[in-house]
Amino acid sequence: MITITEVGPRDGLQNEKAQIPTTAKIAFVNALSESGVQEIEVSSFVSPKWVPQLADALEVFQRIQRQSGVIYSALVPNEKGLEHALEAHVNKISIFTAASETFNQKNINASISESIERFRPVIAIAKAEKLPIRGYVSTAFYCPYEGKIPSTQVVAVVQKLLDLGVDEVSLGDTIGKAAPGDIRELLDNVMPILSKDQVVLHLHDTYGLAIANAMTAWSEYRITRFDSSAGGLGGCPYAPGAFGNVATEDLVYALRASGAEISVDIAKIVGAAKEIEPQLNRTLASRLSRVLSQSPS
Ligand code: HMG
Ligand code: MG
Repeated sequence: MITITEVGPRDGLQNEKAQIPTTAKIAFVNALSESGVQEIEVSSFVSPKWVPQLADALEVFQRIQRQSGVIYSALVPNEKGLEHALEAHVNKISIFTAASETFNQKNINASISESIERFRPVIAIAKAEKLPIRGYVSTAFYCPYEGKIPSTQVVAVVQKLLDLGVDEVSLGDTIGKAAPGDIRELLDNVMPILSKDQVVLHLHDTYGLAIANAMTAWSEYRITRFDSSAGGLGGCPYAPGAFGNVATEDLVYALRASGAEISVDIAKIVGAAKEIEPQLNRTLASRLSRVLSQSPS
């Protein structure tokens, strides 16, 4: 069974310049809750000075209608973020670091080892609260500042996160530049230290290769956990040129058409994307939303 973490409300919206009304974010999450995705990354408890768009994280969490069986998670960069996340009754937290020092410095104002130290108390408290913990490794393939990142460097960061006690690791193609060969190279190197169920692929689609990358991971490595965003929303404020996440509806279509078992309702994902689209000054670019809007009814 494929597991989808829908990251549209967080990764998808964090880069939008115009402030999106909190009610629109809540409606978006509520629509996604009906779609069959297993997890929704609702927001981030980060500094509002760094990511003003997500300054309303607590209110969003307090006002969404949670569906049983859906995990509602959030990004947490430090102890202060965890305090807010606990107040919001998140079901899971994600700490985040990178395989590139330059990117990490620009993203969270810390070196990789400083970020690991910063996470130590966060993880201790989260574990005491019995919260599942994801660790993100950004720039696991390419960095906008340092170029190609050697997979040995990524493996070292993954090992640090495992030593800290994370339950799973999401490998981020932050700028969407990886090709299937890069996916193979990293998975060959990282699979010896991770179980298959601990690996999540977080693909962006800048070069149009995200679906090919996901299919490589699923068909050749039996990876079944992916991050994606409705409508292909997304970008990263500290990754110049980063394009949207792979669109959930396109990913679900590709995997299902290839025989994967998957619970997500494509029409409901497209419906959720249409819910948020009027708040953006552009048309969402997913293939499936185009197909469905032109299909004879
Ligand atoms: P800093 O400036 O070094 O932190 O930022 P600080 O401790 O000096 O605090 C600065 C101010 O922020 C203080 O306020 C703190 O209280 C406040 P002031 O005293 O100036 O009024 N503050 C906070 N407020 C609310 N919640 C908090 C918090 N922490 C501090 N948690 C920090 C360090 C980590 C806070 C900052 O760099 C930050 O928030 N960065 C977030 C960056 C971010 O969210 N990036 C996008 C997500 S990562 C991503 O998109 C990649 C991913 O999708 C995977 C992939 O694609 O690769 C996950
Ligand atoms: Mg991302």
